[in-house]
Order: sequence, then C-alpha cells, then structure tokens
Amino acid sequence: MTSDSNYDNISDSSNDSLLFSRLVHRHFRTNSLNKKFGGSGGYTTVEEPISPASHGQVYTDWTGAAVPPATLIDGWHKHLRRNLLGNPHSHHRPSAKAMEDIKRTRAAILDYFRAPHDEYEVIFTSGATSAIRLLEHYKFMGGEILLTADNHNSVNGLRETAKQSGAVVRYAPINGDLAIDADMLDRMLSFPRSNNQRLFAFPAKSNYAGTMHSLDWVRRAKSKGWDVLLDAAAFCANDRLDLGRVKPDFVPLSFYKMFGYPTGLGCLIIRKDAYSRMHKKWFAGGSILIVSVMMDFYAPEVLGYARFEDGTVNFGQIPAIIPGLQFLNSLGETKSHAVGLATVLYDRLAELRAGRGSILIHSARGNDTVTFSVKAGDKIINAWDFEKAANERGVFVRSGCFCNPGVNEKVFGYEIETYARLYNDAIMPDAITIEKLGEFSGGAPIGAIRASFGYANTIVDVECFTAVTRDILNQL
Ligand SMILES: Cc1ncc(COP(=O)(O)O)c(C=O)c1O
Repeated sequence: MTSDSNYDNISDSSNDSLLFSRLVHRHFRTNSLNKKFGGSGGYTTVEEPISPASHGQVYTDWTGAAVPPATLIDGWHKHLRRNLLGNPHSHHRPSAKAMEDIKRTRAAILDYFRAPHDEYEVIFTSGATSAIRLLEHYKFMGGEILLTADNHNSVNGLRETAKQSGAVVRYAPINGDLAIDADMLDRMLSFPRSNNQRLFAFPAKSNYAGTMHSLDWVRRAKSKGWDVLLDAAAFCANDRLDLGRVKPDFVPLSFYKMFGYPTGLGCLIIRKDAYSRMHKKWFAGGSILIVSVMMDFYAPEVLGYARFEDGTVNFGQIPAIIPGLQFLNSLGETKSHAVGLATVLYDRLAELRAGRGSILIHSARGNDTVTFSVKAGDKIINAWDFEKAANERGVFVRSGCFCNPGVNEKVFGYEIETYARLYNDAIMPDAITIEKLGEFSGGAPIGAIRASFGYANTIVDVECFTAVTRDILNQL
C-alpha cells in the first residue's frame, strides 16, 4: 500500500529535521556552560529537531505549544496529496481508508500511553478544552465536584455545569510553594459533601509554574469513591502518562502541545466503565444510530466513543497523530533536557541584577518552567510589558495568568475582598475588567511571565533569554 509506506516514512522524522544552524550550536557546544550542562543533562540528544533559535528566534512558550519538526508537516502534506480520503461516515474505498486510519490512530494513542485496550478508549476532540467539555455529560446531579486551586480555566469552567446540576463545588487549596496542600486534599476527599457521583479534577502538571503534582492522588481519590479527571494537557509536553499504572477515568489532552502538528486536535482518553457515569445530553449527526422526526425518539450509537464524537471527526488530520507519536518515541525521554535548560535559566535569573531591575521567581527550581516577575526597584512591572519588550528582541515568552487564576491568586496574594469589591462595584457584568481588578487590588500584579522549555530548545535559547532579560532590566 503506497499510502502506508509513505506514512511510515513520515514517522522517521527526527534525522531529517536538522533545519537549524549547526554553526550556532557548534559555538555553544564548546562553551563552558554547555560542558557543565551536558552529559547526564542530556541536551545533546534532543537538539536534533528544528530549533527556532536557528533563525535568530528564541521560543520559550512550550506549555503554550510545542514546535513541530518540519518532516511532520511536510510528510503529512505529501500523504494527503497522494491519498484520497473520504468522509468516514460513507462506505466507499476512500471512506474506508479514512476509517481504517482513524482506527489505527486510536490504537496508537492507547499504545503510546500504555493504556490497556480493554480498559480505555479514545474520543477525538478539537483539543483538551473540548475533551474536558465532554464532562458536560457527566451525571453531576446532586453530586460533587472537587477541584484543586491549581487548574486551567477549561477545567474550572466545569464548576458551572456542576452547579447547574445541583452539585456541590469545592476547591482544594495549594500552598505557598504552589504544591497541593496534601492534608487538606486528603481530608476533602475523605469527607465528601455528597454520596452521589463525585468528580475530582486536577492537573498532572501545572500550566502556571510547571509544578508536578503527585499522580498518586488518582489512586487515593478513586479508593475513596471519586471519579478522577486528570488534566494531562500541560503534562504531556515533556512527560508520558502511563495508563498501565495510573488509572484516572478521564484524561484530556491536546496533540499540538506534544509535537506541534497537527493543531486543532485532542482527545479524551476515557475508562470504558466511566461511560456509565455519563449521560449524553443531546444527539447529533455521527453520534446516533436512528432518529425519528415523526416520533420523539432516537437511539444513540452503541460504541462509547462514537456516542461522544458529534459530526464528522477531523479525518484529514487525525492519522497525522501517528507519526507525531512515533517522533516522540524516537526522541525518548526529553524531560531532563527541558528541566536542565529551565534550571540553568532559573539560576541565571535568580542572580540577575541590571540597573534598577531584578527578578522575582515564583516557580520551584527543578521544573521545566520558570515563572517569574520583573521588578524595577521594589515594584513589579506589568508582565505584558516584558513580553512585548522580549518579543521585540526575538524572545517569545508568555505573560498573564495563563488561564490559571487559582495559582495566580496565590502567587500575588489576592484576597477575597478584592474580588468582592470588584463584583459589587460592577453594575453590568462587562464592567468587571482586568484594569479594575488591578485598581481594586491596590496595584497588585495581575500576571506573571512564563518561560517553558521542550525538546527543540537548546542552551542557546537560555543564553539569549538571559541576555535579552538583562537588556530589558537595564532600561527600566
Ligand atoms: C493544563 C491545561 N489544561 C487545559 C488546557 C487547554 O488546552 P487547549 O487550549 O488546547 O484546549 C491547557 C492549555 O494551555 C492547559 O495547559
């Protein structure tokens, strides 16, 4: 089958993707910092994929999105040009081909995460957020949702669904070091407020500070009768979840955060026995077997995943996930590479002083992420101003609260009174603005700066990042 041999070629991408300037890296490979950082730090194994540093750009927003190797993109486009793919709901040959590719992709995803096929299934979505939104169909009625304060807004938003179903909503706090308060969480899990269905939702890795939360919370929560939503969207960028060992009920993720391409695709990996705790609230094309217009009657798809995949899945892109996963497999472990780079940056920033400027680091040392604020004298400057200044100098970094208000509130010591004033002052909902929040919080910062690393980053990026930060500090 031409398509399959072509397809296999796509997977072997790491060697072809040396598009970056070897000159720049040769220079840095010989410098003393790199020697210090090499060896077991392992960056030399992971500098093979394309690196934006080669083009004079420093990309340090890995938690935002991974950088794809060029061959993933080129290979897949070649595949699309050579193969006729049809809507998988039809039954002709192009349709059967698309259906078969999608089936193989489901299997490849389960294999990548070592998920037993008889236990887990893959529901394709447009990303982690729409995977989480599938929990709209969770039977919250009179039950409970327990969230950690460290959660992405895509998970926080589930509390509205839960509330509308009369469920209790509770938050488990985080500590000053941005780790989960283990005693409190243990107590909250042990003493639920409802005997009905209960969902505990937490991220495997914080998208704010890169904090790694213990995956043992999955086992502990399940042993106390909770269903578990483990948000792996940020985690999967540099870590691999082993669903042979950790057994959450729901795992949402986005593939662009893992290997950059394709975008617009994610999935919910779901334990098959969790379907019994879901009730699909509507039907749509693709997710039903029979619908009658004459009579108020429909029969949903029998297969679990099909019941939750509304409309036509992204058949032109889904199979491109396979070479993406194979690409990650070819790299092997990349976490120590990312952590190594982030740790060098952490140490550089911690001691950096220039002009009136200095750095206040919020994240813990030893993550793949450095989250910090810039100070001019005693005052923290607007994080957005730093992002803008860095951007002008070719360094790409993220600023804001990263859709994670719980950690942001902790980092900047926000008080409930601030929000109460903001809320009470507003005549209309749209009178609640970020500017007002800043004003009511007495000028407390409303966001931080996040530098996050992945397989395509090199020590060059850290060097440039530090130099650019020094330059910005000098001009404060
Ligand atoms: C922890 C976490 N959860 C969920 C999401 C949402 O992912 P997406 O925007 O791809 O749907 C993100 C995105 O940054 C994230 O970091």
